[in-house]
Amino acid sequence: MTSFLDIHTTSPEDLRKMIDSARAMKDARNGRPKGALDHDQPLAGHMVALIFEKPSTRTRVSFDVGVRQMGGQTMVLSGKEMQLGHGETIADTARVLSRYVDLIMIRTFEEATLQEMAEYASVPVINGLTNRTHPCQIMADVMTYEEHRGPIAGKKVVWSGDGNNVCASFLHAAGQFGFDLTFTGPPTLDPEAEWLNFARSKGVDARIERDPFKAVEGADLVVTDTWVSMHDPESAKERRHNQLRPYQVNEELMARAKPDALFMHCLPAHRNDEATSAVMDGPHSVIFDEAENRLHAQKAIMRWCLGK
Ligand code: CP
Ligand code: NVA
Repeated sequence: MTSFLDIHTTSPEDLRKMIDSARAMKDARNGRPKGALDHDQPLAGHMVALIFEKPSTRTRVSFDVGVRQMGGQTMVLSGKEMQLGHGETIADTARVLSRYVDLIMIRTFEEATLQEMAEYASVPVINGLTNRTHPCQIMADVMTYEEHRGPIAGKKVVWSGDGNNVCASFLHAAGQFGFDLTFTGPPTLDPEAEWLNFARSKGVDARIERDPFKAVEGADLVVTDTWVSMHDPESAKERRHNQLRPYQVNEELMARAKPDALFMHCLPAHRNDEATSAVMDGPHSVIFDEAENRLHAQKAIMRWCLGK
Protein backbone atom coordinates (compact mmCIF):
# COMPACT_ATOMS: atom_id res chain seq x y z
CA MET A 1 0.00 0.00 0.00
CA THR A 2 1.45 3.34 -1.10
CA SER A 3 0.33 6.94 -0.99
CA PHE A 4 0.13 9.01 -4.17
CA LEU A 5 1.36 12.38 -3.00
CA ASP A 6 3.11 13.80 -6.05
CA ILE A 7 4.38 12.97 -9.51
CA HIS A 8 8.03 13.75 -8.72
CA THR A 9 7.98 11.38 -5.73
CA THR A 10 6.50 8.46 -7.70
CA SER A 11 8.75 6.39 -9.98
CA PRO A 12 8.43 6.85 -13.76
CA GLU A 13 7.79 3.10 -14.05
CA ASP A 14 4.84 3.25 -11.66
CA LEU A 15 3.48 6.39 -13.33
CA ARG A 16 3.61 4.63 -16.69
CA LYS A 17 1.86 1.57 -15.26
CA MET A 18 -0.94 3.82 -13.97
CA ILE A 19 -1.41 5.51 -17.36
CA ASP A 20 -1.55 2.11 -19.10
CA SER A 21 -3.99 0.76 -16.51
CA ALA A 22 -6.19 3.87 -16.86
CA ARG A 23 -6.27 3.40 -20.62
CA ALA A 24 -7.19 -0.28 -20.28
CA MET A 25 -9.98 0.52 -17.81
CA LYS A 26 -11.33 3.24 -20.08
CA ASP A 27 -11.34 0.87 -23.07
CA ALA A 28 -13.07 -1.82 -21.03
CA ARG A 29 -15.94 0.59 -20.26
CA ASN A 30 -16.39 1.58 -23.89
CA GLY A 31 -20.11 1.95 -24.69
CA ARG A 32 -21.31 0.94 -21.22
CA PRO A 33 -23.62 3.19 -19.17
CA LYS A 34 -21.71 5.54 -16.91
CA GLY A 35 -23.29 4.09 -13.79
CA ALA A 36 -22.47 0.48 -14.69
CA LEU A 37 -20.07 -1.34 -12.43
CA ASP A 38 -16.74 -2.45 -13.88
CA HIS A 39 -16.51 -6.17 -14.68
CA ASP A 40 -13.79 -6.63 -12.11
CA GLN A 41 -14.54 -5.10 -8.72
CA PRO A 42 -11.11 -4.36 -7.20
CA LEU A 43 -12.55 -2.01 -4.55
CA ALA A 44 -15.37 -4.31 -3.43
CA GLY A 45 -15.72 -3.99 0.33
CA HIS A 46 -13.51 -0.90 0.40
CA MET A 47 -14.43 2.45 1.91
CA VAL A 48 -12.83 5.67 0.65
CA ALA A 49 -12.91 9.05 2.45
CA LEU A 50 -12.84 12.09 0.17
CA ILE A 51 -11.93 15.23 2.16
CA PHE A 52 -12.39 18.68 0.67
CA GLU A 53 -11.08 21.83 2.32
CA LYS A 54 -11.61 23.71 -0.96
CA PRO A 55 -14.41 23.63 -3.58
CA SER A 56 -14.40 20.98 -6.32
CA THR A 57 -16.58 19.65 -9.14
CA ARG A 58 -14.34 17.32 -11.18
CA THR A 59 -12.22 15.87 -8.39
CA ARG A 60 -15.19 15.25 -6.18
CA VAL A 61 -17.42 13.61 -8.78
CA SER A 62 -14.72 11.67 -10.62
CA PHE A 63 -13.32 10.12 -7.43
CA ASP A 64 -16.79 9.29 -6.15
CA VAL A 65 -17.91 7.71 -9.43
CA GLY A 66 -14.58 5.92 -9.90
CA VAL A 67 -14.72 4.25 -6.50
CA ARG A 68 -18.31 3.12 -7.10
CA GLN A 69 -17.55 1.76 -10.58
CA MET A 70 -14.84 -0.38 -8.96
CA GLY A 71 -17.25 -1.69 -6.34
CA GLY A 72 -16.21 0.48 -3.39
CA GLN A 73 -18.07 3.05 -1.34
CA THR A 74 -17.25 6.66 -0.55
CA MET A 75 -17.93 9.33 1.97
CA VAL A 76 -17.42 12.93 0.95
CA LEU A 77 -16.31 15.09 3.88
CA SER A 78 -16.09 18.84 3.97
CA GLY A 79 -13.14 20.06 6.01
CA LYS A 80 -15.31 22.71 7.67
CA GLU A 81 -17.86 20.16 8.88
CA MET A 82 -15.18 17.88 10.34
CA GLN A 83 -13.52 18.43 13.71
CA LEU A 84 -10.41 19.01 11.58
CA GLY A 85 -11.89 22.41 10.73
CA HIS A 86 -12.43 23.13 14.44
CA GLY A 87 -9.01 22.46 15.90
CA GLU A 88 -8.53 18.67 15.85
CA THR A 89 -5.04 17.92 14.62
CA ILE A 90 -4.32 16.45 11.23
CA ALA A 91 -2.36 13.64 12.88
CA ASP A 92 -5.29 12.62 15.09
CA THR A 93 -7.71 12.88 12.15
CA ALA A 94 -5.44 10.64 10.08
CA ARG A 95 -5.17 8.01 12.83
CA VAL A 96 -8.92 7.99 13.46
CA LEU A 97 -9.93 7.80 9.80
CA SER A 98 -7.45 4.96 9.27
CA ARG A 99 -9.51 2.88 11.72
CA TYR A 100 -12.59 3.24 9.47
CA VAL A 101 -11.57 3.59 5.84
CA ASP A 102 -9.19 1.93 3.39
CA LEU A 103 -8.07 5.02 1.47
CA ILE A 104 -8.07 8.80 2.01
CA MET A 105 -8.12 11.46 -0.71
CA ILE A 106 -7.60 15.02 0.51
CA ARG A 107 -7.82 18.42 -1.19
CA THR A 108 -6.25 20.97 1.08
CA PHE A 109 -4.32 24.23 1.30
CA GLU A 110 -0.87 23.60 2.73
CA GLU A 111 1.35 20.83 1.42
CA ALA A 112 2.32 20.19 5.05
CA THR A 113 -1.27 19.10 5.78
CA LEU A 114 -1.09 16.45 3.06
CA GLN A 115 2.32 15.29 4.26
CA GLU A 116 1.15 15.04 7.85
CA MET A 117 -1.98 13.15 6.85
CA ALA A 118 0.18 10.65 4.96
CA GLU A 119 2.65 10.36 7.83
CA TYR A 120 0.04 9.52 10.44
CA ALA A 121 -2.46 7.55 8.34
CA SER A 122 -1.98 3.80 8.17
CA VAL A 123 -3.89 3.73 4.86
CA PRO A 124 -2.79 5.30 1.55
CA VAL A 125 -3.38 9.02 1.04
CA ILE A 126 -3.97 10.67 -2.35
CA ASN A 127 -3.24 14.34 -3.13
CA GLY A 128 -6.41 15.85 -4.58
CA LEU A 129 -4.70 19.29 -4.90
CA THR A 130 -2.71 21.51 -2.58
CA ASN A 131 -1.57 25.11 -3.00
CA ARG A 132 1.63 23.66 -4.50
CA THR A 133 0.67 20.70 -6.72
CA HIS A 134 -2.17 18.85 -8.48
CA PRO A 135 -0.78 15.46 -9.55
CA CYS A 136 -4.07 13.66 -10.35
CA GLN A 137 -4.86 16.35 -12.92
CA ILE A 138 -1.58 15.92 -14.75
CA MET A 139 -1.90 12.13 -14.83
CA ALA A 140 -5.19 12.68 -16.68
CA ASP A 141 -3.51 15.24 -18.93
CA VAL A 142 -0.65 12.91 -19.91
CA MET A 143 -3.22 10.19 -20.62
CA THR A 144 -5.24 12.65 -22.74
CA TYR A 145 -2.24 13.82 -24.75
CA GLU A 146 -1.20 10.25 -25.52
CA GLU A 147 -4.73 9.22 -26.46
CA HIS A 148 -4.77 11.92 -29.14
CA ARG A 149 -1.16 12.11 -30.29
CA GLY A 150 0.82 9.09 -29.04
CA PRO A 151 3.82 9.18 -26.67
CA ILE A 152 4.38 12.50 -24.92
CA ALA A 153 8.12 11.81 -24.49
CA GLY A 154 10.20 14.27 -26.50
CA LYS A 155 7.28 16.65 -27.15
CA LYS A 156 7.22 20.38 -26.39
CA VAL A 157 4.66 21.60 -23.86
CA VAL A 158 4.12 25.32 -23.30
CA TRP A 159 2.53 26.63 -20.12
CA SER A 160 1.17 30.16 -20.57
CA GLY A 161 0.05 32.17 -17.53
CA ASP A 162 0.47 31.64 -13.78
CA GLY A 163 3.24 29.27 -12.65
CA ASN A 164 0.84 27.70 -10.15
CA ASN A 165 0.14 24.27 -8.60
CA VAL A 166 -1.02 22.72 -11.89
CA CYS A 167 2.05 24.11 -13.66
CA ALA A 168 4.21 22.59 -10.90
CA SER A 169 2.81 19.11 -11.49
CA PHE A 170 3.32 19.60 -15.25
CA LEU A 171 7.00 20.31 -14.54
CA HIS A 172 7.20 17.15 -12.44
CA ALA A 173 5.60 15.20 -15.28
CA ALA A 174 8.06 16.72 -17.77
CA GLY A 175 10.89 15.17 -15.77
CA GLN A 176 9.20 11.82 -15.16
CA PHE A 177 7.68 11.30 -18.65
CA GLY A 178 10.53 12.98 -20.58
CA PHE A 179 8.99 15.98 -22.33
CA ASP A 180 10.18 19.58 -22.61
CA LEU A 181 8.31 22.42 -20.94
CA THR A 182 8.52 26.12 -21.66
CA PHE A 183 6.90 28.48 -19.17
CA THR A 184 5.74 31.85 -20.41
CA GLY A 185 4.34 34.38 -17.97
CA PRO A 186 5.33 37.45 -15.93
CA PRO A 187 8.45 37.13 -13.69
CA THR A 188 6.47 37.55 -10.46
CA LEU A 189 4.42 34.45 -11.27
CA ASP A 190 7.23 32.11 -12.31
CA PRO A 191 6.99 28.48 -11.21
CA GLU A 192 9.20 27.61 -8.24
CA ALA A 193 12.86 27.19 -9.17
CA GLU A 194 12.80 23.83 -7.34
CA TRP A 195 10.31 22.45 -9.87
CA LEU A 196 12.17 23.79 -12.90
CA ASN A 197 15.35 22.27 -11.48
CA PHE A 198 13.61 18.94 -10.87
CA ALA A 199 12.66 18.72 -14.56
CA ARG A 200 16.16 19.79 -15.66
CA SER A 201 17.74 17.20 -13.35
CA LYS A 202 15.93 14.54 -15.38
CA GLY A 203 17.53 15.82 -18.59
CA VAL A 204 14.59 17.62 -20.17
CA ASP A 205 14.52 21.20 -21.40
CA ALA A 206 12.57 23.24 -18.82
CA ARG A 207 12.87 26.95 -19.54
CA ILE A 208 11.30 30.35 -19.19
CA GLU A 209 10.54 32.53 -22.24
CA ARG A 210 8.88 35.87 -21.51
CA ASP A 211 7.52 36.40 -25.02
CA PRO A 212 4.43 34.16 -25.35
CA PHE A 213 4.60 34.18 -29.14
CA LYS A 214 8.21 32.99 -29.15
CA ALA A 215 7.39 30.45 -26.44
CA VAL A 216 4.68 28.66 -28.40
CA GLU A 217 6.74 28.23 -31.56
CA GLY A 218 6.94 24.49 -32.24
CA ALA A 219 4.62 23.62 -29.34
CA ASP A 220 2.86 20.25 -29.40
CA LEU A 221 0.66 21.21 -26.47
CA VAL A 222 -0.36 24.59 -25.04
CA VAL A 223 -1.71 24.65 -21.48
CA THR A 224 -3.11 27.33 -19.22
CA ASP A 225 -5.11 27.63 -16.00
CA THR A 226 -7.04 30.22 -14.04
CA TRP A 227 -5.23 33.46 -13.27
CA VAL A 228 -6.44 33.41 -9.66
CA SER A 229 -6.27 30.08 -7.83
CA MET A 230 -8.43 29.09 -4.88
CA HIS A 231 -5.65 29.88 -2.42
CA ASP A 232 -4.83 33.30 -3.93
CA PRO A 233 -6.25 36.33 -2.12
CA GLU A 234 -9.15 38.02 -3.89
CA SER A 235 -7.26 41.31 -3.43
CA ALA A 236 -4.61 40.07 -5.90
CA LYS A 237 -7.16 39.60 -8.69
CA GLU A 238 -6.83 42.95 -10.48
CA ARG A 239 -3.03 42.95 -10.38
CA ARG A 240 -2.87 39.36 -11.64
CA HIS A 241 -5.28 40.09 -14.47
CA ASN A 242 -3.19 43.06 -15.59
CA GLN A 243 0.02 41.05 -15.44
CA LEU A 244 -1.38 37.97 -17.15
CA ARG A 245 -3.44 39.50 -19.94
CA PRO A 246 -0.54 39.30 -22.47
CA TYR A 247 -0.44 35.53 -21.81
CA GLN A 248 -4.06 34.82 -22.73
CA VAL A 249 -4.33 31.75 -24.98
CA ASN A 250 -6.26 33.00 -28.00
CA GLU A 251 -6.45 31.99 -31.66
CA GLU A 252 -3.56 34.29 -32.57
CA LEU A 253 -1.29 32.58 -30.04
CA MET A 254 -2.46 29.04 -30.95
CA ALA A 255 -1.73 29.82 -34.61
CA ARG A 256 1.98 30.08 -33.70
CA ALA A 257 2.08 26.56 -32.24
CA LYS A 258 2.37 23.45 -34.43
CA PRO A 259 -0.72 23.02 -36.66
CA ASP A 260 -1.72 19.85 -34.81
CA ALA A 261 -0.99 21.25 -31.33
CA LEU A 262 -3.45 20.42 -28.58
CA PHE A 263 -4.88 22.88 -26.05
CA MET A 264 -5.52 21.92 -22.42
CA HIS A 265 -7.05 23.57 -19.36
CA CYS A 266 -7.77 21.65 -16.17
CA LEU A 267 -11.01 23.64 -15.59
CA PRO A 268 -12.81 25.43 -14.07
CA ALA A 269 -12.07 28.23 -16.54
CA HIS A 270 -12.77 31.92 -16.61
CA ARG A 271 -13.66 32.06 -20.26
CA ASN A 272 -12.09 34.91 -22.22
CA ASP A 273 -9.60 35.64 -19.43
CA GLU A 274 -6.85 32.98 -19.49
CA ALA A 275 -8.20 31.44 -22.72
CA THR A 276 -10.79 32.55 -25.22
CA SER A 277 -13.93 30.54 -25.88
CA ALA A 278 -12.79 30.31 -29.50
CA VAL A 279 -9.77 28.27 -28.33
CA MET A 280 -11.58 26.36 -25.59
CA ASP A 281 -14.27 25.21 -28.02
CA GLY A 282 -11.99 25.15 -31.07
CA PRO A 283 -10.27 22.36 -33.01
CA HIS A 284 -7.15 22.17 -30.80
CA SER A 285 -9.04 21.83 -27.54
CA VAL A 286 -9.27 18.56 -25.57
CA ILE A 287 -10.52 20.09 -22.32
CA PHE A 288 -13.49 17.78 -21.85
CA ASP A 289 -11.41 14.67 -22.59
CA GLU A 290 -9.08 15.87 -19.83
CA ALA A 291 -12.04 16.17 -17.47
CA GLU A 292 -13.27 12.68 -18.39
CA ASN A 293 -9.83 11.18 -17.99
CA ARG A 294 -9.67 12.34 -14.38
CA LEU A 295 -12.06 9.45 -13.73
CA HIS A 296 -9.97 6.79 -15.47
CA ALA A 297 -6.59 8.06 -14.27
CA GLN A 298 -7.71 8.25 -10.64
CA LYS A 299 -9.16 4.74 -10.79
CA ALA A 300 -5.71 3.57 -11.83
CA ILE A 301 -4.10 5.63 -9.06
CA MET A 302 -6.41 4.15 -6.42
CA ARG A 303 -5.69 0.59 -7.62
CA TRP A 304 -1.97 1.30 -7.48
CA CYS A 305 -2.27 2.72 -3.96
CA LEU A 306 -4.13 -0.35 -2.75
CA GLY A 307 -1.99 -2.84 -4.67
CA LYS A 308 -5.05 -3.99 -6.64
N1 CP B 1 -9.56 20.40 -12.33
C1 CP B 1 -10.06 20.24 -11.10
O1 CP B 1 -9.42 19.74 -10.17
O2 CP B 1 -11.38 20.63 -10.97
P1 CP B 1 -12.23 20.73 -9.62
O3 CP B 1 -11.69 21.89 -8.85
O4 CP B 1 -13.64 20.96 -10.11
O5 CP B 1 -12.08 19.46 -8.85
N1 NVA C 1 -4.91 26.36 -9.94
C1 NVA C 1 -6.29 26.08 -9.62
C2 NVA C 1 -6.65 24.68 -10.05
C3 NVA C 1 -8.09 24.31 -9.82
C4 NVA C 1 -8.39 22.90 -10.22
C5 NVA C 1 -6.51 26.28 -8.14
O1 NVA C 1 -5.69 25.82 -7.34
O2 NVA C 1 -7.52 26.91 -7.77
